[in-house]
Amino acid sequence: MEYISINGKRKLSGSVQINGAKNAAVAIIPAAIAAGGKCVIENLPHVEDVTTLTHAIEHLGGSCRFPDEHTLEIDSGGINQYTVPYDLAKKMRASYYMLGALLGRFKKAEVPLPGGCSLGVRPINYHLRGFEQLGAKIHTEHGIVKAAADKLTGANIYLEFPSVGATINIMIAAVFAEGVTQIENAAKEPHVVDTANFLNKLGANIKGAGTDNIRITGTDGLNGGDYSIIPDQIEAGTYMIAAAITGGDVTVERIIPKHMDSLTAKLEEMQCETEIRDDSIRIKAEKPLHAVNFKAMVYPGFPTDLQPQAAALLSVSSGSGIITETVHEQRFQYVEELRRLGANINVEGRAAFVNGGAELTGAQVNATDLRAGAALVVAGLAAKGETVIGNVMHLDRGYEHLESKLAALGADVKRISHPDEYDA
Ligand code: EPU
Repeated sequence: MEYISINGKRKLSGSVQINGAKNAAVAIIPAAIAAGGKCVIENLPHVEDVTTLTHAIEHLGGSCRFPDEHTLEIDSGGINQYTVPYDLAKKMRASYYMLGALLGRFKKAEVPLPGGCSLGVRPINYHLRGFEQLGAKIHTEHGIVKAAADKLTGANIYLEFPSVGATINIMIAAVFAEGVTQIENAAKEPHVVDTANFLNKLGANIKGAGTDNIRITGTDGLNGGDYSIIPDQIEAGTYMIAAAITGGDVTVERIIPKHMDSLTAKLEEMQCETEIRDDSIRIKAEKPLHAVNFKAMVYPGFPTDLQPQAAALLSVSSGSGIITETVHEQRFQYVEELRRLGANINVEGRAAFVNGGAELTGAQVNATDLRAGAALVVAGLAAKGETVIGNVMHLDRGYEHLESKLAALGADVKRISHPDEYDA
């Protein structure tokens, strides 16, 4: 077992470089399966979910090579299988993108229902309904989604909720549909736009990504190509919150500041000073933090993937704030763990009421999912004494070099392997 140990109460200072976006990478790598040629993807985060996807591609008959830590060459020309094994699919939510990619290119796909973070019931009915509207026959048997079509035909697809996964998945398959597909009430998240840009670079014709109406004109096939992934909005936000909670002064570099608007506005409202440049934001948290309310929404609203970290921040601010979650059904599992550190939070339905002013103290805690883990790291940085975080494999799915990046900013943090004293 591995744990992350943090001795808190150190102000973070300096600068940190943000990696490529994990949630863009996990869509773009499967989209490369659809290409059939050689793709070179740059600025990839070196995280567990990326490694899992490369194993899936190799299993299907494609080849993957990392010329360096952040670049991946994918040759999907040799793919001759359409079935993703359960062991790989269960590790990550994004395995569902294999469905759109394989169905699009080969008109056949078999992918086990996805794993990933447990944030309530996370069905993929919008994805499947979209594929059906494109002409695919879908049935689920023994936990495996089987999709097949003689051909795909463009359709008007309305999403009941602007689901990120459904928007991207349908978009990938629709590249191979005859005629025009329109996705209405589409998700507008930056990684939807990034995946569309990648597909367009390979020869797709996708217009309107980043708005709620995406139009895809089908094509016979895609070429290979090179692409560089956008910076990770959520990694950047996690470091911005880490700076704020420690009263630090940190410049978060290699980001797209526009993607951070909803968080930057909140941090300013809480009394942090910000300096926004072309590709960086400096957060200075010299004044005491004031609590505010957060509402986690679809983009450009405040990201749900930053709300657990925001809860940690509110815990130590003066006053009280409410966090409302409108995207995932159950994203407050981290609250019980934050309470172990002394946070005063009560959950009612989709709202968490945070009473600020807590003196956090170190404790042994467990990451229940990826961003829950990030919230515990952020809280641990502000807590007095040692915080030991278990289930770090969740953090490894989304944060590259977490400990060394934090240590470079002045945090006292280390990874402990197989420490008997922490075994439950
Ligand atoms: N939903 C359905 N049916 C569907 C699809 C979604 O009911 O067919 C519901 C979900 O249950 C959820 C809501 O719609 O309540 C939103 O789900 P969405 O499809 O937008 O999310 P996702 O594709 O499952 C991605 C990210 C999540 C992020 C959400 C929202 C990936 C691999 N995951 O999930 O990232 O929270 O979008 O932005 O891209 C994370 O990085 O920690 C993470 C959980």
